[in-house]
Amino acid sequence: MSDNNIKIFDTTLRDGEQVPGCKLNTEQKVVIAEQLDKLGVDAIEAGFPVSSPGDFKSVQAISKIVKNATVCGLTRAVKNDIKVAAEALRYASKPRIHTGIGTSDSHIIHKFRTNRVDIIQRAFDAVKYAKSFVEDVEFYAEDAGRTENEYLARVCEAAIKAGATVLNIPDTTGYCLPSEYGAKIKYLKEHVKGIEKAILSCHCHNDLGLATANSIEGVINGARQIECTINGIGERAGNTALEEVVMVLKQHPYLNLDTNIKTEMLYGMSQLVSDSMGIYTQPNKAIVGANAFAHSSGIHQDGMIKNRGTYEIINPKDVGVTESAIVLTARSGRAALAYRAKNVGYELTKLQLDDVYANFLSFADRKKEINDGDIHQIIETSKVYRQIISA
Ligand code: KIV
Ligand code: ZN
Repeated sequence: MSDNNIKIFDTTLRDGEQVPGCKLNTEQKVVIAEQLDKLGVDAIEAGFPVSSPGDFKSVQAISKIVKNATVCGLTRAVKNDIKVAAEALRYASKPRIHTGIGTSDSHIIHKFRTNRVDIIQRAFDAVKYAKSFVEDVEFYAEDAGRTENEYLARVCEAAIKAGATVLNIPDTTGYCLPSEYGAKIKYLKEHVKGIEKAILSCHCHNDLGLATANSIEGVINGARQIECTINGIGERAGNTALEEVVMVLKQHPYLNLDTNIKTEMLYGMSQLVSDSMGIYTQPNKAIVGANAFAHSSGIHQDGMIKNRGTYEIINPKDVGVTESAIVLTARSGRAALAYRAKNVGYELTKLQLDDVYANFLSFADRKKEINDGDIHQIIETSKVYRQIISA
């Protein structure tokens, strides 16, 4: 695998499932994990085993069925969490323990009521203990986004010394600007002793709508794993959306960064997660929203009909959407009406179209969206109907 391959770490079943009211049962989680494995993710964070018997059971069940991906369990830097996670991951062919601790002053002072030196020691001890169970240990520096870079580098060095294989640099509160987050990753690449023994991972929250941009800046600056969720679900404003980062990299090949994701499965995956969790995906959601490939204004529709590339940068088939939609509303022009009429069996001449279009506008003013049934009715009630059918 080249150094330019970006690992996709899916945390839909852990960070994603923290969305209030979206708890999944073990069976639902297993179905999603199987599909994620087929999608080609490199790691599946299956849960937080110590948090509840249900989470333990889910991590265990997922460990048994996943064939290709690494299966990961979250822990705090607490011995019992780590022991329980190791037990839940026992059947995984590629187990990973994800352990860590808060590193920003806010976490050190208010959450742990301790000091920086103690946090470094706890980070070291947690990774060392996790290493006694599994080879693959990921360390997270919670709130790394607001942690001073020099101190963060010392924490990372301790985690590497203890044997961490992955260093997760979460922007837990979604605070960083893309330039800041990218500079943080670059700083760690350049200043952490032993960094060649581990890969850096981006874990960006979306509180300011910057999660995707921050993750992309992270990999441009040397990170080699992105932590993300399907549809960007997660705590508060959510996590980095898997489908977005994957398609950003695919649509910008000159970045020379690729993933192992089978992109044609993205739309189906999005539907599966939103149906299972009962979370509606906003229509304008990038890549997988209902309107992501729908064109409604007359100017855009005319351009699309002449050449799809005029208004679409992604072929919908590449993400599992059958085709682009030309939506007929009162803002649509003649080109869109002629195109949709043709799709339902009417070839209109220019003069016929003028008449049918006038009828269409009065319909469209009364109805939000015109469907195929309406098109028949519009044509059948137009003055030129007789000419059209005899044509
Ligand atoms: O956002 C975060 O910091 C996390 C860690 C627990 C990895 O989810
Ligand atoms: Zn998170």
